[in-house]
Order: sequence, then structure tokens, then C-alpha cells
Amino acid sequence: MRLRAGEVLRLRLLNKLAEPSNLHLHGLHVSPEGNGDNPFVTVEPGSSFDYEYQLPAGHPPGLYWYHPHHHGMVADQIFAGLFGAIVVEDPEPVPASAERILMVSDTSLDAGGNVAEATEPERMAGREGALLLVNGQANPRLAARPGERERWRIVNCCVARYLRLRLDGQELQLLGMDSGRFKSPSDVHEVLLAPGSRAELLVTAAAGESVLRALPYNRGNMPGMAGRGMGLGQPEGAPADPAGTALATLLVAGDPASPAAAVPAGPAPPELGSAVVAARRQLVLATPMGMGGGMGPMGFSINGRTFDENRTDTAVAAGTVEEWTLVNRSPMDHPFHLHVWPMQLIAENGRPVEPAGLRDVVNVPANGRATVRIAFRDFSGRSVYHCHILDHEDLGMMGVIEVR
Ligand code: C2O
Ligand code: CU
Ligand code: CU
Repeated sequence: MRLRAGEVLRLRLLNKLAEPSNLHLHGLHVSPEGNGDNPFVTVEPGSSFDYEYQLPAGHPPGLYWYHPHHHGMVADQIFAGLFGAIVVEDPEPVPASAERILMVSDTSLDAGGNVAEATEPERMAGREGALLLVNGQANPRLAARPGERERWRIVNCCVARYLRLRLDGQELQLLGMDSGRFKSPSDVHEVLLAPGSRAELLVTAAAGESVLRALPYNRGNMPGMAGRGMGLGQPEGAPADPAGTALATLLVAGDPASPAAAVPAGPAPPELGSAVVAARRQLVLATPMGMGGGMGPMGFSINGRTFDENRTDTAVAAGTVEEWTLVNRSPMDHPFHLHVWPMQLIAENGRPVEPAGLRDVVNVPANGRATVRIAFRDFSGRSVYHCHILDHEDLGMMGVIEVR
């Protein structure tokens, strides 16, 4: 879907599955109430629901996506392929000879060719599919001419897999992450995309064949799962290949293109570092210990509690800025996601980070912490925050926020 700031989007979700579902617009800054981006809606099998979303006039341009959000079924439905991209157009276009949207997903098929069911240990670790796909294809071939500048918009739709992306042999610049467009693009060799997050890259094509690869990333492990190495959630005996997995192959050949026009400067990214902080909170992410006995006393939790849609965990005063310290008391990374109101990463493991725009997914490293600031502007209402390892979310690592 392509949208512009200030537009109203009306759509009907018709559920032809044999199980409940619903729809979430990941990253969009829209109301969470009523028939807006309301994660508490249930659309029963065979029924439909009419959503309506009003994008504010100043909605940040960028790459977003949509996917089902019915608690308990999110991982299964995304693993089966239910998702799509949303672009909010730039007010001033970035000159590029081509724009590509790359939705990177993973899935596994059983012997009958159906989407495989995840095992209990796979759900606890966060399942990683045996197939890595770009727009539903295995290693598609892309073509460009030397000198062309392409804009690649990449979404990590995987349920649990982190994507450490490289495109060796090509010149890469990072234009932004999530909805946060940088003031000017910066040269990069590698981009780490936690589940749910997006990167916008400019690729200046150099002659030859280059492979977009997802390299192994160690996101930690669950006690009792030692020995699985970095291929978390993968079948036993499938160690991660250090060369990574080919996602797509870019062939650059033909007549050289004339150089692309300069990239216009983006708006100055919002800076909450000097904002007045109305409240400071700590959110502790925890996983059950002792895999052998299944779920521990607290299961997958935030501040010691598993998800309950009837309980409000965090009440926030509308219009204020808050600082949240996300504490990870587990031996694996958790990508923390907040709906509606984007976050600015302030510090990682206590070390301040340079302001780099707004994110809606922030990685909280294993046994580490991340500090974010959030401006609760424009909208009030109830919504959720959760781990975007969607198996963890389905197992209860999610909380309810109410802005009022
Ligand atoms: Cu991408 Cu609450 O979701
Ligand atoms: Cu979301
Ligand atoms: Cu998690």
C-alpha cells in the first residue's frame, strides 16, 4: 500500500482463515482506538471488519508493514506468509533509478509441502524457518546498470530471525531505519535488522554480480539449548553457515548510467535527549528458566507478568515524554516494539548513543539494557508493546499501555 501523510485509509479485512485474526499497521503513527490500529479487535473466521486510519498531516515518510496481531496466533500467521508492505511517500522524492521493496521472510515446509508447525523448543527460542525468502521467492535475480542508484526498502518479516545483511561489491548508504530518516545517508557495509524493523538503503551499482546475504547473528540462547549454536530454533545438526544465506543476486551489467542527482537533506530528526521527562520507568523482560520442565513460574513476561488484555500495565499522560529503561534478564536478545508512538534510543547498556531518528523496534541485548525516550503525542488510547520475536509475544511477552 502506498499512502501519503494526511490521507485516510479505509479497508475491509475479510477473514477466510479457519481461525481468528486481525490487522496491525506496524510502525504507523495512527490512533489505536475503535476501528483504528486496535490490536484488541478479533475478526472471527468468515467475518469481516472495517478499519479506518487517519494519517496525521506530518506523518513521517518511510517504510512500514502490516500483519495480523491476534494474540496467540501472530507467529503462525506471519510464518505462513500473511504480511505486506506500506510506503508512506516522501514529500520530496529521493532521486533513484529504481525502487525495490524487499520483504524478507522465513518459513519451513513439512513433507506434504504445508507450512510446518513449530515445536515447543522452537517457540521458546523463536522459530527460524529453513527457507529464507525475498517477496516469497528464493534467491531472486535482480538487474541494474553500472552507476545506477537504486533505493532498496527492506523489511524483516521473519518471526524471530535477525538479519545481518551485506551486499559485498556494491556501494551502500543507509538512508534510515524504521520511520527514522537520517538527515543525510551514511556509508555502510552491513546492516543489522531485528525482527519487525526496516532499513532503507541506497545501492549505487558497480559492474559484476553481488549477492545480498544474511550472515549469522548470535542472538543468544536459552538454558538447556546449548549446542545449537547460532542456528537458534533450527533443526538439530544444522549449524549456521558462516557465509550466510543468499537472499537475492544482483547482476550489474550494460551501459553505464549517468550519475544520480544528490539526495535532498531529510528533515532534522526529532531529538528527545533534552526533552523534559515526565516519568521514568523500567520494563524487565524475562524468559522461563529451565527448558526441561517447560515454562517456569513466570513464563515469558514483562515486569513479572504475562500478557492479559484486560489489564493495563502502563498508564501514560498524553502529551508527555517518558524515558523507559528496557532491562533484559535473559540470555537472549529481545527486539522490543511499541505500537503507535515511536522511540528514540538514548543509551545501550548505559552508554549514550548518538541521536539517530525514531525507531519502533529497539533491540535489547541479552543480559543488557536499552534506554529509550518516547513522546506520547497526537493520540491517546490503549495499545501494546511486546517482543517482536513473535513466538515470545504469543507466549505472553507483551504488555498493555494506555495513554490518557
Ligand atoms: Cu509488528 Cu505489535 O507488531
Ligand atoms: Cu507493530
Ligand atoms: Cu523475545
